Amino acid sequence: ISLKSYNTFGIDVKAKHFVSVNSVDDLKSIFSSEKFSQKFILGGGSNMLLTKDIAALVIHLNIKGKTVLEQTENDVFIKCQAGENWHEFVLWTLDHNFGGLENLSLIPGNVGTSPIQNIGAYGVELKDTFHSCDALNLNTLDVETFSNTECEFGYRNSIFKQQVKDDFIILNVTFKLTANTHKLYTNYGAITSELENMNIDQPTIQDVSKAVITIRESKLPNPKEIGNCGSFFKNPVITKKEFLKLQKNFPDVPHYIISKTETKVPAGWLIEQAGFKGKTFDNYGVHKKQALVLVNYGGASGKDILELSKLIQKTIVRIFGIHIEAEVNIL
Ligand code: EPU
Repeated sequence: ISLKSYNTFGIDVKAKHFVSVNSVDDLKSIFSSEKFSQKFILGGGSNMLLTKDIAALVIHLNIKGKTVLEQTENDVFIKCQAGENWHEFVLWTLDHNFGGLENLSLIPGNVGTSPIQNIGAYGVELKDTFHSCDALNLNTLDVETFSNTECEFGYRNSIFKQQVKDDFIILNVTFKLTANTHKLYTNYGAITSELENMNIDQPTIQDVSKAVITIRESKLPNPKEIGNCGSFFKNPVITKKEFLKLQKNFPDVPHYIISKTETKVPAGWLIEQAGFKGKTFDNYGVHKKQALVLVNYGGASGKDILELSKLIQKTIVRIFGIHIEAEVNIL
């Protein structure tokens, strides 16, 4: 079957064998069978660039459900299954007036893949509300639980991208959210000004979500209309020494100081300075409103987009001496 509707880049590659799984038992029996030696797990398909047809068995993880496990005075523990759509889950929490995920509104993808890269936006990361997750150990077929610290979350990073990569499938995630008194994170520049635009000075969590949705819709292409995977690259973290050199040549460079020795520079700015913003090559290119996002206008191949990403990387090294790493997984 074609995987076009299973990846937000909208790349038309084919899977020879495909199965959609909606229970842990089915997943276990697939992994205990010898039939397919190679297996490939597909979640929301929102963070991958497919560059060729897949010979392995493609397993679409479609386990659904959300449960309130426990509610104390101000804490609520919610378990959400891996196959739930991220944004629909966020809206559900907001409908119940549970706080903590509002800044992460409208991020594409599924709940089960959200811990892998510790999704983040507007000053909040998944790790801030993540309590634990259950994951299937593919070597033993046992279900194991990972606590927040065990996940070793970092910027767009976790143990699932490092030490235990390809060894586990995340089955569900438990979040610790607030039930009454919410803590708002509104000091990210774009949110502050959007709330001002909305004439709101005492925002609720629902207002913050609306502001985030407005900002994202104004800058980021809707994958239902234009194929994309959000940020294609990570924002590079460079040493203070490298940063000072960069700032000498480019005094306007935006940056966030991470520590005494490290500074993060927006890759979107570097790519824009290099002249790529809005560049279109045939049916793919760099998004017009956010240079960090590569787009498929329809019918582009994964290889085309991969080549473009390499050209951008090479150019950024040449101009700024900085390597920008892909954020999406390339397959
Ligand atoms: N910038 C430019 N040109 C551009 C894009 C950005 O000059 O084309 C500059 C902006 O002017 C600003 C700075 O770069 O000074 C930062 O821009 P923005 O606030 O848009 O955020 P970002 O660093 O480009 C990151 C995340 C996004 C997330 C936003 C908001 C990464 C790789 N990306 O982007 O995440 O939504 O912050 O928090 O960290 C994603 O991961 O898919 C994603 C969209």
